[in-house]
Amino acid sequence: MHNSDKLILSNIKTETHPFRRLRRTRMTATLRSMVRETELSKNDFIYPLFVVPGTNVKKEVSSMPGVYQMSVDNIVRECAGVKSLGIPAVILFGIPEHKDEVGSEAYDELGIVQRAIHAIKKEVPELFVITDVCLCEYTSHGHCGIVRGDEIVNDESIELLAREALTHAQAGADMVAPSDMFDGRVQAIRAILDENNFQNIPIMSYAAKYASGFYGPFREAAESTPKFGDRRSHQMDPANSNEALREVQADIDEGADIVMVKPALPYLDIIRRVKDVFQMPTAAYNVSGEYSMVKAAGRLGWIDEQRVMMEMLTGIKRAGADLILTYFAKEAAKLL
Ligand code: PBG
Repeated sequence: MHNSDKLILSNIKTETHPFRRLRRTRMTATLRSMVRETELSKNDFIYPLFVVPGTNVKKEVSSMPGVYQMSVDNIVRECAGVKSLGIPAVILFGIPEHKDEVGSEAYDELGIVQRAIHAIKKEVPELFVITDVCLCEYTSHGHCGIVRGDEIVNDESIELLAREALTHAQAGADMVAPSDMFDGRVQAIRAILDENNFQNIPIMSYAAKYASGFYGPFREAAESTPKFGDRRSHQMDPANSNEALREVQADIDEGADIVMVKPALPYLDIIRRVKDVFQMPTAAYNVSGEYSMVKAAGRLGWIDEQRVMMEMLTGIKRAGADLILTYFAKEAAKLL
C-alpha cells in the first residue's frame, strides 16, 4: 500500500461520518438491480446473417460455432425465429454464386442479398432488415473495391457501392450499412438514395472501422479473405483515436444517421469518445473474433461462456453503444 492510500483510508475512518459503506447497496439482489446503471436489452441487438445460394443449405462456420451460412429459405426461417426471440433487427451479408473483378453480383437486382431481402420482407415483414454494403464478398480478389495495380481505388469503388445500396433499398431493405471505409461513400449513397425517392432510408455507417485481426473468422463465414495484400490502406490503424473522431465527423457531415465503431472490445475507449463527442446513435460491432474467442475458451471449460458473454455485452453498452451487432444476440436474448 502506498503512503498516500493510507492517508486516504485514515481520512475516511477518522473524518467521514457516518462511516462510508459502499457495500450497503450491493447486499441484496433486489437493491443491486435497483441501482444498476446499465441495462442490456434485446432492443439493442442486431443479428448478423450469412446468405448463400442454393436451397436447404445450412452449413456451420467452423471457426464460429452456432453461426451458419444459410440459403434464402433457411434464412427466412431463421429470421422468424430471431423475431420471435424479441430481436428487432438483422444485418445481411451475401456470398454470391460467382465472384468477379468488379463484384457484379453486389449490385445485381437479382443478387443473393436482394433476393433474401425480398423473401424476408414477405414472410417476416416486422423484422428490421439492414444490409452490409461492401464489395469484398463479391470480388474475385476479396478486396472491398476495384483494384488497379497495387491500389484499391476509392472514387470508382464508391460509385459501385452506391449502386449496391440502391438495389438493397429497392429490394426492401430498411437500412443500409456501408462497411468499406472508403472516403465519400456515405455522401454517394445518400445522394443516390435521395435521387430515387429513398430519402427515408437511414444509413448506419461503419464509421471508425479498424484494420483488425479480429475479423478472421468472419472472412471464413463470408469467404472474403483478400487474395493478396490487406485492408490497411482504408481501414484504420488500431493505434489511433483522434483519427476515429475525424472519421466519424466525416460520416456525420455526409449524412450518416447512426455511426459504428468496430471491433468493440479492444475499442471501448473509442466507443466512449464517439458517444461523448457526437451524441449520435452509436453502434458497436462485437465482431467474429470476439465471439470465437469466448466460444473456444467456453468449450475448453476455461471460462463460464454465458457469464462472460453477458459481461462483454454489458461492457459494450456501458461504454456508450446504443446498438450492438453481435453473433451472441440469440443466446443473450434468451437470457434477458
Ligand atoms: C466487410 C466486413 C467485414 C466485417 C463486416 N463487414 C470484414 C472485413 O472488413 O474484412 C467483419 C465482421 C466480423 O468480423 O464479425 N464487408
